[in-house]
Amino acid sequence: MKLFVYHTPEATPPDQLPDCAVVIDVLRATTTIATALHAGAEAVQAFSDLEALFRFSETWSQTPYLRAGERGGKQVEGCDLGNSPLNCTPEVVAGKRLFLTTTNGTRALKRVEKAPIVITAAQVNRQSVVDFLKKEQPETVWFVGSGWQGDYSLEDTVCAGAIAKALWDGSSTQLGNDEVLGAIALHQQWHQDLFSLFKLASHGQRLLGLDNEIDIHYCAESDRLAVLPIQTEPGVLKAYQG
Ligand code: MLT
Repeated sequence: MKLFVYHTPEATPPDQLPDCAVVIDVLRATTTIATALHAGAEAVQAFSDLEALFRFSETWSQTPYLRAGERGGKQVEGCDLGNSPLNCTPEVVAGKRLFLTTTNGTRALKRVEKAPIVITAAQVNRQSVVDFLKKEQPETVWFVGSGWQGDYSLEDTVCAGAIAKALWDGSSTQLGNDEVLGAIALHQQWHQDLFSLFKLASHGQRLLGLDNEIDIHYCAESDRLAVLPIQTEPGVLKAYQG
């Protein structure tokens, strides 16, 4: 396995795709996706465009559904939910499809949706991602941080580092770019206090400004959920069944 870290979707090499893309938006889209699927949602279907989400959901009749929309950290008007993972309880999401659009995370998914394997990672499901990659051994793996409107996000890179650290053994797993080592160093510096790091990060500051410390706390919990979101068709993520 050769590992590459890209801090944002914009930083990925154009016209190329890896064997496996790992999309990361710790604050909060990929934490929400993991939480919804763990709570029994039938699927999460991601849209980078809000209008497309509304148009598509109006034609959907196969399962009950919820619309979840976030822009700038706030719930979008007309949606049933925002992007808080804490709203994704079994009572709310079980058996339903979640149509989700967020500022950055769903755009990152769009960038790599044609890769043969697309999975999502957050701190809450870190171990499930490590287990999957160890088992599947894809030749090239891209960790794609969602960032914020093209800029770097600390929380996505530290999560990439947490996964890469568990995989990098110096023999069968190799480093594809220097960003992987940087991500591992960030993980080593902060892994015992991710909550503090996330509060310092720019999107953590934005969420604190919206009085949302509780989501940051939850998103900083490592290995809480045994669930692996995997793309089954472009934009549609389901819980991997092994
Ligand atoms: C995003 O996609 O930028 C987010 O997940 C933002 C958020 O809802 O906190």
